[in-house]
Amino acid sequence: MRLGINIDHIAYLRETRKINDPDPLEAIFIAKRSGASQITIHLREDRRHIHDSDISRIIESSFLPINIECSSAKDIVDFICTKKPHRITLVPEKRNEVTTEGGLLLHEGMLPILERFCSNEIEVSLFVDPCDKSIEKSIEISHQLGTKIGVELHTGKYANISLMLSSNLPHTHHSIKEFETSRSALHTRLVQEIHNIESSAKLAFNEGLNVYAGHGLNYFNVAEIVKIKEIEELNIGQSIIARSIFIGLEQAIRDMIGLIQ
Ligand code: PXP
Repeated sequence: MRLGINIDHIAYLRETRKINDPDPLEAIFIAKRSGASQITIHLREDRRHIHDSDISRIIESSFLPINIECSSAKDIVDFICTKKPHRITLVPEKRNEVTTEGGLLLHEGMLPILERFCSNEIEVSLFVDPCDKSIEKSIEISHQLGTKIGVELHTGKYANISLMLSSNLPHTHHSIKEFETSRSALHTRLVQEIHNIESSAKLAFNEGLNVYAGHGLNYFNVAEIVKIKEIEELNIGQSIIARSIFIGLEQAIRDMIGLIQ
């Protein structure tokens, strides 16, 4: 299983002072040295962290493949097609969300956009909720495009339930309202969510899609996801960058790779 490092949070820190420190570009060299397989960055419509110039500099300098998460906004698609990253991951985007909240609602209207990426030799991945319907639609899209695509299974719900169950989060002001329920009910939902991720991964894999997963994964919850052998890659950001504040980025990445392996 490969590890893609999402470095948006480094750019977030830079934006708190609107200066050029820390520079997310530096992270790509550390990620390579630490054994990561990919750099993942999200070019958001509001450019709240990664900017167009970061994309240009990172693509020009990286020895690792670059995976750009993006919405289907025309100016973003136009820009990315000129930059030709290794892969794009299409994600839903809402202006006021703190992070990508749910998977894509897949529809025919996306085809021309995805065809543009394919004709620019950019691999396509769709960020979807782990459910049969999303996978079946992704398979259909792959057939319509006439090319193998990837699905990245959204592990955010699994991660949130797991946090509410195993940490003191419910007793803090960060408690997640949606999951404020009894421990036994949370446990049932956790088992159900792991089942959803596993069965979606198997369905997608058996139909020839590349299967990835990510969102909210950390040093405590990654083990359950690693057990699903159809998933070939994880994209992880927040937990690794958070840990790097205390122990350094190189060690934080190596620790995560140790758990994945
Ligand atoms: N994968 C996708 C598609 C995402 O949108 C994100 C968040 O930007 C991640 C993975 C990484 O999530 P996290 O920062 O919670 O590890």
